[in-house]
Amino acid sequence: MGDPRLLRIAQPVKEFGTTQLAELLSDMRDTMAHLDGAGLAAPQIGVDLRVVIFGCQSNPRYPDAPPIPETVLINPELTPFGDEEEEGWEGCLSVPGLRGWVPRWKRLYYAGFDETGRRFERRVEGFHARVVQHECDHLDGVLYPMRVRDFTRFGFVEALNLPGVVEE
Ligand code: NI
Repeated sequence: MGDPRLLRIAQPVKEFGTTQLAELLSDMRDTMAHLDGAGLAAPQIGVDLRVVIFGCQSNPRYPDAPPIPETVLINPELTPFGDEEEEGWEGCLSVPGLRGWVPRWKRLYYAGFDETGRRFERRVEGFHARVVQHECDHLDGVLYPMRVRDFTRFGFVEALNLPGVVEE
């Protein structure tokens, strides 16, 4: 947080199936796994492209939620479905040690491309919807603290004493 590369509007990917894109995704997967995150956006490793990855086997905050499949989402488009919001705790690999209580759309459609250039779309809700919104915000220069409304619910992990919250 504070690095100007996290504040840019990232550029769309124009070519798919390239070595360059494969190397970017490999770097992103390594970084996400190393830092034990649920998602990562290219700007978080200094790359100015509209590429996010995410996926999560299980989450203690959403015990009834299905796991989020390992996903590569390029040039994403998000469309809220209904106007219901949901608040939840978020962390971010670019904002280490902190957590905030963040409002997000509860349900949404998202569409985009995988690394081969195949277009896909999904309708999701809850934690899956939250992770997608968090990661796609990174492509528009938005970090989750910018969305916190109640700053009594923003602070250091150790001080907040929260149940298991994943890094996004
Ligand atoms: Ni993040």
